[in-house]
Amino acid sequence: MNKVKWLENAVFYNIYPQSFYDSNDDGIGDLNGITQKLSYVKDMGFDAIWLNPFYESPFRDAGYDVTDFYKVAPRYGTNEDFVRLCTEAHKKGLKVCIDLVAGHTSLECEWFQKSCLPEPNEYTNRYIWTDRAGKDYNHSCIGGYAQRNGMYMKNYYYCQPALNYGFANIDEPEWQLPPEHPDCRATKNELIKIMEHWLSLGADGFRVDMAASVIKNDPEYKEIIKFWREIRELFDEKYSECVLISEWSHPSVAIKAGFHIDFLIHMNLPSYTMLFRAEKRENAVQQFEGNSFFNKNGNGSIENFLADYLREYDATKGKGYISIPTGNHDIPRISYNRTKKELEVVYAFIMTMPGVPFVYYGDEIGMKYFSDLPSKEGGFTRTGSRTPMQWSKGKNAGFSSCDAAELYLPVEEHGVNVEEQIKDASSLLNTMKSLIKLRKSSEALSNDGEIEFLNRKYNGYPLIYKRTGGDGEYLVCINPTDKKQ
Ligand code: GLC
Ligand code: CA
Repeated sequence: MNKVKWLENAVFYNIYPQSFYDSNDDGIGDLNGITQKLSYVKDMGFDAIWLNPFYESPFRDAGYDVTDFYKVAPRYGTNEDFVRLCTEAHKKGLKVCIDLVAGHTSLECEWFQKSCLPEPNEYTNRYIWTDRAGKDYNHSCIGGYAQRNGMYMKNYYYCQPALNYGFANIDEPEWQLPPEHPDCRATKNELIKIMEHWLSLGADGFRVDMAASVIKNDPEYKEIIKFWREIRELFDEKYSECVLISEWSHPSVAIKAGFHIDFLIHMNLPSYTMLFRAEKRENAVQQFEGNSFFNKNGNGSIENFLADYLREYDATKGKGYISIPTGNHDIPRISYNRTKKELEVVYAFIMTMPGVPFVYYGDEIGMKYFSDLPSKEGGFTRTGSRTPMQWSKGKNAGFSSCDAAELYLPVEEHGVNVEEQIKDASSLLNTMKSLIKLRKSSEALSNDGEIEFLNRKYNGYPLIYKRTGGDGEYLVCINPTDKKQ
């Protein structure tokens, strides 16, 4: 597999389109708004952005329920706006990666509407349907929606019917198809067509949503690995500077499947949650009642992280990258229950670890998690991490000049903001900026630099590791506690 040169130093910025910048004052962020803010992204030292979905959608899961994969949703602009965003980003040397919702569509997607019909047609097997309605094969199947005699399998919410890429192991031959079935192959061909569409418009890669969900009943991921490897081969051949990033949180498997980067996040392996979000929390995907390693009381333990991390790192070194993001649109912001000082330590860790760092928009200024917002567009407790970027002290924090009531989500009054932090040398923003700069100044600290952990005693406080690469060497000491260690 090819190596992608620009990934050796890349630091990503994750932008939630509806909440970044509103260019036409209708209360919601848009692609032109992002284009207008590219200088900020560049100036921070980021090299690439990942945009959450901007496709046409009824927004029952904030755009992860797509009706038209080939089209920008009107609320975000047009396909031409996307082309312009890419062109302007490329002029600045920034890459643009977009979200690929590979596993499902919206119920309102035309393919699904056709798939619901009793008469056989091109889309009959585009989704996974049981052979009859009423028999509860498993809890993922939903009946009563379609005219055809069957229940559809959901992939996430009920409104996200699973696309049919087949089953690795078939236990109900009446309705489960193998991946090589022509109808399953047709689904995959369509996915490739979607990818090529956006690549041709300027995209530099994809963050693949629920990457492990494509093929069903594949406990060892054999077919899923084959599935993505074929796409990686296409990338190596035709799009060798473009990248595949997985939402999988199992790097050794995802990198084997051909992804260039896999996130360690709140699902699958518990290591990420143990670092930052191990405290008991209602509705968390991973429920722990422990203590995060990154907490000032120093009652967590690095072992919980290292046990997974070292194994995954050894398995992927030189082949692909692990990403430890500051956060994303699915989890409470990293600032939740943390002081600025604690955040600085977290960022020092993230920016001195191997792999490809991702910063979720607003985390660089320590934007807060809104813990009590009503659910918006299927966000539920995730809604509080999706509020508009706080650019200034001005109206609506400089995000939009619409009436406050029209805002996609509220902004924090008198909250942290970019304008003030840019001017303050000791701000979180400037700390982040200098950490990125430091990272880029040395091969040892780069994405490929090696790591060795030197202190696993005393639960890892302080955490000490050595980074090496080129002729450089860094010794990093991380003390998340408020005591001398
Ligand atoms: C991923 C997305 C999440 C979405 C889900 C279903 O986990 O990050 O926001 O709800 O997939 O598409
Ligand atoms: Ca707008």
